[in-house]
Amino acid sequence: MRTTAFPDNFINELVARSDIVDVVSGYVRLGKKSGSNMFGLCPFHSEKTPSFSVSPDKQIYHCFGCGKGGGVISFIMEIENLSFPEAVAFLARRANMPLPEQEDDRESKKRSRLLALNRDAARFYYERLQAPEGERARAYMTRRCISKATATNFGLGCAPNEWGALERAMREKGYTDYELFDAGLVKKGSKGGWYDTFRDRLMFPVIDVQGRVIGFSGRLLGEDGPKYLNSPETPVFNKGRNLFALNLAKKSKSGYILLTEGNIDVVSLHQAGFDSAVASLGTSLTAEQARLISRYTGEVIIAYDNDGAGQKAAQRAISILEKLDLKVRVLQMSGAKDPDEFIRERGAEAFSRLIEGSESELEYQLAQIAKKYDLSADAQKVDFLREAGELLARRPSAAEREIYCRRLASEVGISAEVLIGEVNSRRKRLLRRTENAAARANPERQNRSPESVVRYADPASAVAEEGVIRLLCLDPGLARSARLPKPEEFSSPELARIYTVLLSRLARGQDVSANVLGGELEAKEISLLVNIQSRPEALSNSERALGDYINRIRGRRSAAEGETDLMKILEEKRKQESKEG
Ligand code: UTP
Ligand code: MN
Repeated sequence: MRTTAFPDNFINELVARSDIVDVVSGYVRLGKKSGSNMFGLCPFHSEKTPSFSVSPDKQIYHCFGCGKGGGVISFIMEIENLSFPEAVAFLARRANMPLPEQEDDRESKKRSRLLALNRDAARFYYERLQAPEGERARAYMTRRCISKATATNFGLGCAPNEWGALERAMREKGYTDYELFDAGLVKKGSKGGWYDTFRDRLMFPVIDVQGRVIGFSGRLLGEDGPKYLNSPETPVFNKGRNLFALNLAKKSKSGYILLTEGNIDVVSLHQAGFDSAVASLGTSLTAEQARLISRYTGEVIIAYDNDGAGQKAAQRAISILEKLDLKVRVLQMSGAKDPDEFIRERGAEAFSRLIEGSESELEYQLAQIAKKYDLSADAQKVDFLREAGELLARRPSAAEREIYCRRLASEVGISAEVLIGEVNSRRKRLLRRTENAAARANPERQNRSPESVVRYADPASAVAEEGVIRLLCLDPGLARSARLPKPEEFSSPELARIYTVLLSRLARGQDVSANVLGGELEAKEISLLVNIQSRPEALSNSERALGDYINRIRGRRSAAEGETDLMKILEEKRKQESKEG
């Protein structure tokens, strides 16, 4: 994602001095039409009747034909084919405003300062681990069977049991308290003053794929406080976009990534020779983390905890990873709660065998379903086959469907042909139903040019996600609501990105007009945002409306998970048909 190199007040002044009607009139003949909007022929797609509108009041444009829209800066980006900074420079020349060029430097200087601070902090923690005050952490490592070499490999450290040890050391190195605060390393006390965020913890530096220390995860040594504490979001750290130990795992020659839940799992696995283990940082796997993984491997083996929560998280991870066409296998550990415990009790050899014997994600899901039924009872067999058949019907590969139908049929003792026939007709019904739902959810689809339209995997949830975004733009006070969904809960990656940018600006008290957001969003995303903003929304009871949208997002998610890969299949089917015809 690009970030704005220009301060908001500069952008706002530039926009104020670049009237959208004046600017657009340089390219499009605008005539007055209904209400306060001006209309003309869209410069971005060919048409005979004007569907391109410009609102002098809102200072935005929007085409009802192709869906493009935005503010004056995105108009120049589109029509002159310029990047955001280039379009800003273009308009600044036109408006006779000098560019604040030093800003770009200031942002990147700040980031590299924070990265240097993180590196120095990691070194500090590392040195404390070897020093006398690291005794407690060293004893803890011994108890968890973490060797010295492993500690060095991960750069583990110790945050002393003091309120200001790191703060003092970093001040001596010339960092200010504000920099420490921005890095999430100190917090502000109630009587002024600062205190160290991480105290009395075993420290795991989080290192990105470029080898930079971007944050920390600290494991409690004593009794007081949460078991793990992670750095807050900072200008250089975003939990949902990074994975613990990917910097090491990306170099592995194993051909797969081992996805675990815990930092200690990762450390133990690497120590036992499984050098492709990573963990998401105390969140469930996000789509962005999955994309990051897919840059380094084509296969993921999920090794989550052996409890209900872990198995549920595995199901979620499967559906996220599958969308990226990653091969997914799931490891089933019996007799141990997590990989760390398994390795300690059974050893590395046994874990290797576990990997070799790990099931494909489909086998795993079928086994999960089978667990629910007593297959010696005929009535339960029927229910089992119904549920398993539902799962198989969603698989795009006919060969895969047949192989597993045969296997299930022989397990249950019925004829394979009957089951295959049933699964195939169920599949036809499903495809038809999804097709109808897609058409209902987006009746305008046919009228828009395909490249400008974002296709939603889950249209019903996307409508609610759009609603949340629209409400936040109209009523920024709602950003304080505690129930706000996390971006990872959104079904559409485009909407999640807009939402993330929106939230971070609202958290900083910055404004959220399409113009200033332009620096952080792609042209397509700005169009989408303007589309969203231009639809009506009643504000009379915005909190209730927000609540309704959130319920719809949360309620839909689990129900919709199966539909999304059907959408993908439909998509492929459509592509194939258009190729053939
Ligand atoms: P676990 O509790 O399974 O961690 O949480 P673990 O690594 O197995 O812990 P121990 O040390 O063996 O007992 C899994 C992950 O969830 C995050 C951490 O990233 C942890 O590694 N987590 C857990 C938190 O962020 N905060 C918490 O309070 C607990
Ligand atoms: Mn554990």
